[in-house]
Amino acid sequence: MNIAIVGATGLVGRTFLRIIEERRIAYDNLYLYASARSAGTTIAVNGVDHPVLETTAANIRDKAIDVALFSAGKHVSKTLAPVFVETGALVIDNSSAFRMEADVPLVVPEVNGVDINRHHGIIANPNCSTIQSVLPLSVVDFYYHATRVDYTTYQAVSGSGQKGLADLEQTAAGGAPVHYPHPIHNNAIPHIDDFQADGFTYEEEKMICETQKILHREELEVSATCVRVPVAHAHSVSMVVTTTERVNLDHLRSYLRDTDGIVVLDDPHNNNNIYPTPRQAAGTDSVYVGRLRRDRFDEHKIHLFCTADNIRKGAALNAIQILETWRKRGGKDE
Ligand SMILES: NC(=O)c1ccc[n+]([C@@H]2O[C@H](COP(=O)([O-])OP(=O)(O)OC[C@H]3O[C@@H](n4cnc5c(N)ncnc54)[C@H](OP(=O)(O)O)[C@@H]3O)[C@@H](O)[C@H]2O)c1
Repeated sequence: MNIAIVGATGLVGRTFLRIIEERRIAYDNLYLYASARSAGTTIAVNGVDHPVLETTAANIRDKAIDVALFSAGKHVSKTLAPVFVETGALVIDNSSAFRMEADVPLVVPEVNGVDINRHHGIIANPNCSTIQSVLPLSVVDFYYHATRVDYTTYQAVSGSGQKGLADLEQTAAGGAPVHYPHPIHNNAIPHIDDFQADGFTYEEEKMICETQKILHREELEVSATCVRVPVAHAHSVSMVVTTTERVNLDHLRSYLRDTDGIVVLDDPHNNNNIYPTPRQAAGTDSVYVGRLRRDRFDEHKIHLFCTADNIRKGAALNAIQILETWRKRGGKDE
């Protein structure tokens, strides 16, 4: 199997490479692509130096690539993913370019891995905050039937790639912001992606529409407020879920504990400070869930808090899990 990584020099791309090594993903040839800026440099993977190629149709067509993992932004996906598909490759795309297209599965393997085989050449990786949120939400929904979810996010600057990390460093040193509209150091910016006509941002719209699509629940009421915070790695999401059935919190904790990909950190009754924080999640693969509690005024509402590494589970790891699941389900063998 020949694998291509498009955006191999970026935060997500380099994490793809690390996870390919960690999970011993088998390949015959590995091709690394980025912009013309990086062409000619090399990156070592599994102890072998690989040249970085410019992402052009000519560089793609002669390689017999089976799977291409994309993380080079929406524009590159829109223009070059179809070239891979034309040559017979499966594209697993991290950008928002195709997520809401009807014939493109939008997949979190633990939640809707079954959708993978409905692809027509492209499978989309959801938005990072959405991935970590739908994991616990799907458990609540399965046992207690969710009718509404309200998200508030606390998103790390690495969610904006290298530009976000650079802005945090630069504004902490007293410099002016380059990427964000305000200094991110010592701040919280309730503005991620462009504002839409109704006052929601595009990041919030992604969380709303992608949650409905992944859960196959178009009637599910979803709202979101997305906030950038001065944390380098790992997003946090506070969720208020309204359910038809009254939630038994002890049962829910044990259902969550039994779910692949989730670690419950929730000990509200002892004064030992066990709850999820982004520092614990950074560099790890799990979604951490805690602060489970019933609403004081509506017994059909619960509150919970989750954290996860936005570059790993929120991007590269989830995409590699899609690749692994696709292979297991009869995708092309190694
Ligand atoms: N960071 C996250 O938490 C996260 C989560 C989910 C999804 N994503 C998505 O993943 C993508 C990349 O994010 P990132 O955080 O890795 O950003 P990044 O660190 O800024 O890296 C961007 C990558 O895209 C490449 N690139 C830029 N313009 C290109 C072009 N014209 N042709 C080919 N390659 C080009 C860059 O190559 P050069 O080094 O040569 O410039 C680099 O490899 C974005 O679509 C983002 O929305 C990111």
